[in-house]
Amino acid sequence: MDTLTALTTRVSAPRLQAPGPSDEQIDILLRAAIRAPDHGLLRPWRFIVLQDRQLEQLGDIMVANLLEQQPDADRRSQDKARSKALRAPTIIVAVAEVTEDHKVPVWEQVLAVGAAVQNMMLAAYELGIGAMWRTGALANSNLAKQQLGFADKDQVVAYLYLGTPASGLKSLPDDSPADFIRELP
Ligand SMILES: Cc1cc2nc3c(=O)[nH]c(=O)nc-3n(C[C@H](O)[C@H](O)[C@H](O)COP(=O)(O)O)c2cc1C
Repeated sequence: MDTLTALTTRVSAPRLQAPGPSDEQIDILLRAAIRAPDHGLLRPWRFIVLQDRQLEQLGDIMVANLLEQQPDADRRSQDKARSKALRAPTIIVAVAEVTEDHKVPVWEQVLAVGAAVQNMMLAAYELGIGAMWRTGALANSNLAKQQLGFADKDQVVAYLYLGTPASGLKSLPDDSPADFIRELP
């Protein structure tokens, strides 16, 4: 698949199964990620590649986060939270490790990591790997950031779920660029 085709046809794959991407494919995704635009060359992106046992550790973090928010959460709710870490054979956590009080504002640094995530999604699509960008409460939890090895100032940008699509990819939405064009006032 050529890049323009990937750019104009990419869709997410919400339901994923094994096998996940190979080590070689993960390396390609990460190489694509670190070619994202980056104001000031601050290189704010950090990636944690989770597979196998590490996904169970992410499940533990998800449960700890739930219990912080809802100390009375019952076993069923805990199991549901834990299962969110097991919905794909591979998850890449993308974090913006930001530099504060810099002429490049924090929001630009976070956007650079967003661009890195999109690069990974497009590369995954070209390689035939299903991908789904997720965030949710775990992206803004200081407890989760600490358990992932980051500081409160940093921003979890994506839990990028990767694997083999469990069903056919959805069809493209009927959007047209014209719907999003505005004229100067
Ligand atoms: C920053 C960001 C965070 C997202 N977080 C979630 C999420 O937590 N859960 C979810 O179902 N979709 C989330 N999405 C949306 C999906 O990844 C996906 O883009 C959306 O379902 C549209 O599907 P498409 O990518 O095939 O157009 C997020 C997207 C972005 C850009």
